[in-house]
Amino acid sequence: MTVTDLPASATKLELPPLKLGNITVDTPVVLAPMAGITNTAFRRLCREYGGGLYVSEMVTSRALVERTPESMRIIAHDDDEKVRSVQLYGVDPETVGRAVRMLVEEDRADHIDLNFGCPVAKVTRKGGGAALPWKTDLFTGIVQTAVREAAKGNVPLTIKMRKGIDDDHLTYLEAGRMARDAGVAAVALHGRTASQF
Ligand SMILES: Cc1cc2nc3c(=O)[nH]c(=O)nc-3n(C[C@H](O)[C@H](O)[C@H](O)COP(=O)(O)O)c2cc1C
Repeated sequence: MTVTDLPASATKLELPPLKLGNITVDTPVVLAPMAGITNTAFRRLCREYGGGLYVSEMVTSRALVERTPESMRIIAHDDDEKVRSVQLYGVDPETVGRAVRMLVEEDRADHIDLNFGCPVAKVTRKGGGAALPWKTDLFTGIVQTAVREAAKGNVPLTIKMRKGIDDDHLTYLEAGRMARDAGVAAVALHGRTASQF
């Protein structure tokens, strides 16, 4: 049987819109944030194929609050980007909170994602990246602070994380519950551990 023999209903994929707080993404597709890839030019190419949520490259909270030229480039958006989506990385609640506040107060983002997925050993060895949810108090502190600052501008805050550090140190269920209780709009799960890269 070829595709053209199938009834129309079988070839059409109907999915409900993606709701993130006050944002509705009619085409419920999210482009994974990729450092060095998902810049304005790449997101422009994606938009030519239709709607979706196209997340920026990751920016570190520290560099953003210091307004380094590279971090200001990363958070820049084209005028026609309807949902300006920024991904932040940070390891302490205060700096992450300041970065979120800056994005919200200066109206530089419509959606903010926090990255807890970095698998690089140099980062996880120090307890950052994908290892950070293991430190539950710190993880909760960062997420609660970010949600609180984002809420002041009605900006939905999401998190992206891995299953855990390795198979003996899985974090995603507890981290997911904590994030939900902190008020995140959604959780994205990268279905591998850091040790699986
Ligand atoms: C080149 C590259 C850069 C990435 N940079 C980021 C990043 O900055 N932030 C992030 O959360 N994930 C990053 N990722 C992970 C992706 O967002 C995604 O979670 C991962 O590729 C898993 O999806 P896949 O199995 O389809 O590859 C990166 C992945 C690639 C390949």
